[in-house]
Amino acid sequence: MALVGIILLSYFLTVLLSAHRSSTSLYLCRMSRPGAILLAIESSCDDTSAAVVKDGVVLSNIIASQAIHAQYGGIVPEVASRLHQENIVMVVDTALQKAGVTLNELDGIACTAGPGLMGSLLVGLSFAKGLALSLNKPLVTVDHMHAHVLSHFIEDPKPAFPFLNLTVSGGHTQIVLVEDFNQMRVIGNTLDDAAGEAFDKSGKLLGLPYPAGPLIDKKARAGKPVFPFPIPQIEGYDFSFSGLKTAILYFIRDAQEKDPSFIEQHMDNICASIQHVIVEILARKLTKAAEDTGITEIGIAGGVAANSGLRDRLKEIGGEKGWNLYFPAMQFCTDNAGMIGIAGYYAFLRKEFASLDVAPFVQQVV
Ligand code: KG4
Ligand code: ZN
Repeated sequence: MALVGIILLSYFLTVLLSAHRSSTSLYLCRMSRPGAILLAIESSCDDTSAAVVKDGVVLSNIIASQAIHAQYGGIVPEVASRLHQENIVMVVDTALQKAGVTLNELDGIACTAGPGLMGSLLVGLSFAKGLALSLNKPLVTVDHMHAHVLSHFIEDPKPAFPFLNLTVSGGHTQIVLVEDFNQMRVIGNTLDDAAGEAFDKSGKLLGLPYPAGPLIDKKARAGKPVFPFPIPQIEGYDFSFSGLKTAILYFIRDAQEKDPSFIEQHMDNICASIQHVIVEILARKLTKAAEDTGITEIGIAGGVAANSGLRDRLKEIGGEKGWNLYFPAMQFCTDNAGMIGIAGYYAFLRKEFASLDVAPFVQQVV
């Protein structure tokens, strides 16, 4: 029932926003002109984001984060969905204003269709459908994971094809072989937790608020990786982080039995040790993939790409191996509509338009 309400409300808000921003007929079809201006919407998880992309250049990228989840120690899907509903009109309006673009100047609407949380995806996609319908413009749906990979094409320098991408976020950990804008193959995947999840769950064991990744990164800089945690031996390019979580749990339990103030006394060193092992797991698999494929163009994307330890370690290995490394700017590492706009722009040029009855999807279709 709640989701039906969200869809209806999205259409209603869409019409309101259209009326607010546009003085001409809602169904007026504009004459075509060179180039393409797209409005992009991202709402797959807990960030509501909108961007305007003109001819492959991001003119604005507005992100409304949902701090409320910190008090629950993780994202509460129903709360995320309702907050997207509250934020989306303001976020879209701000993105358009910052870009100096009106609704009538848009050539199309790009939107994340998945993977992500169903209730969250429904808000953005319903809103995007409503706009596309009311403006009589094409809708382009974007795979969130492809968009993380294509975030390297927002700013210079851009990788050359083929390149390998390590996509590390709160929900996914993948090594992707990228042949072209629309040709990419996942060659390594996590078998259990994602790298970001490993940071967040370890942080929770230490009493750190969600999301713990950035905090562990900060504290690790003041510490040393003196506590050894095991690196799992997994075949091929796949990852596993669940054993690490268990190892940290038992390590902390045993240490606290001997000294109840162990965490407070050693917080920076524990964080440095956790970060060290997560980074090593990622770096070893990526190095193996690069060696086996002979590819030296290497991209890192997703929220965990912001991690300073990962950046330093990969720069170190890359220097030895002759890699060209690509990291998106911080605002394009974590979830953002700029990357949806870039992925949507290339799909728009290929005329890959979606039907208005397209449904969101929770799991990635590989
Ligand atoms: O890509 P993202 O914004 O959202 C998902 O699609 O999941 O990634 C969020 C994840 C969280 O797990 C967060 O803890 C992690 O990225 N993260 C970091 C850092 N910044 C964000 N992890 C480690 N170090 C960081 N500096
Ligand atoms: Zn993401």
